[in-house]
Amino acid sequence: MINPLRGMKDLTFEESQRFNFIVNTATTVAKRYGYNYIETPILEETALFKRSVGESSDIVGKEMYQFEDKGGNDVCMRPEGTAGIVRAFVSAKLDRQPMKQKFYYYGPMFRYERPQKGRLREFHQFGCESFGEVSVYEDFTIITMIKQIFDALGIGFELLVNSLGCPTCMPTYRENLVAYLTNIKEELCSDCNRRIETNPIRVLDCKNETCQSLLTASPKLIENLCEECDSDFKKLTALLDKADISYTVDTNLVRGLDYYSKTAFEFVSSEIGSQSAIAGGGRYDRLVEFLDGKPTPAVGFAIGIERIMELVKMPETKREGIYMGAMTQEAVEALFPLAEQKRKESKVTVEYNSKGFKSHMKGADKANARYAVLIGEDELKEGTVWFKDLESKEEKSVLLGEFTFKMHLP
Ligand code: HAM
Repeated sequence: MINPLRGMKDLTFEESQRFNFIVNTATTVAKRYGYNYIETPILEETALFKRSVGESSDIVGKEMYQFEDKGGNDVCMRPEGTAGIVRAFVSAKLDRQPMKQKFYYYGPMFRYERPQKGRLREFHQFGCESFGEVSVYEDFTIITMIKQIFDALGIGFELLVNSLGCPTCMPTYRENLVAYLTNIKEELCSDCNRRIETNPIRVLDCKNETCQSLLTASPKLIENLCEECDSDFKKLTALLDKADISYTVDTNLVRGLDYYSKTAFEFVSSEIGSQSAIAGGGRYDRLVEFLDGKPTPAVGFAIGIERIMELVKMPETKREGIYMGAMTQEAVEALFPLAEQKRKESKVTVEYNSKGFKSHMKGADKANARYAVLIGEDELKEGTVWFKDLESKEEKSVLLGEFTFKMHLP
């Protein structure tokens, strides 16, 4: 037997229903906020992720599904969605258009991480990217949109927010942080020592407890923001307060991707174990320019679909559609035209084997059908059909020729 690869999963019946419910709910909300569907390739040039997610990030440094294709191109299975969408935005010259543009997407992402509960090598994201809006109102609106999605799915969450500054305030902060970290270098783990050189901000979210205890006195970016970043961050938290959306300012929230500036946020759940981030995002005002587009402010997020799969409160499944069966094989064939007629508007299951009444009723129940439609030898002779509403328990026999579903079945 051939099994799926480690860290990859099949989505079978129950899970695929949950998956579709999540995507449909999130799509409905995203459309209400003015987002349009976008789809980009799963395979991209490796350079795209190096330039956007960042060479020093774990994603690019350790986790890419990267290989040379048959034409000798250095390609990679996308580890996230934002970079590809920004590339598509620039490729289609949408950066030259004056209007604001908003896109939603969903699909598989690939990261060669060590698999564990909630951490897969192939996982799915639902995400949104908003281009052209510089106002922090958009950051706030995006957070309200994620809240609407989680509310509609019946999922509780905690919201963590931070500001990652901008090219005005970040360089000075970075210098101060490096000075602080260099002083405690010997006590920090080897990963952090490497990061002091490559990406010092990432030291802040090191999972090592010793490192974390040494960082309590580190300089905080939030206390060293330039006037604009400070005012935007204060505006964002004031808007969240006003909207009664509770949040925690987490000064160590730096996100694992290098393209962010200003607002960064994460939604976490305490109900799913150590991989608790269920959505993440923020502002990336310089990424369009990094990928050769016209400078365009942007902000977005992605939800990890597998992470919320168990948390979703699924609506009760109602009886749906029609089960059709017959007591003789000849009668089975008489069902086909009826089935085709009704399939124009409803779900229809036809049992191909002729069976007894009880067996058919069991079948209708198993199929969770709302209606059972049966034809036996007598019905065939008389040209009638018998049907039952399995919810109201009403039943009736009518002439086949008169059996218009519209008349008898709502
Ligand atoms: P991210 O935080 O790397 O952000 O991923 C978003 C979400 O994907 C996470 O919060 C988590 O729920 C899920 N996720 C990440 N890795 C895995 C994994 N190995 N297994 C299962 N689920 C996972 C991004 O990817 C950004 N592109 C988000 C964004 C959009 N920022 C701006 N726009």
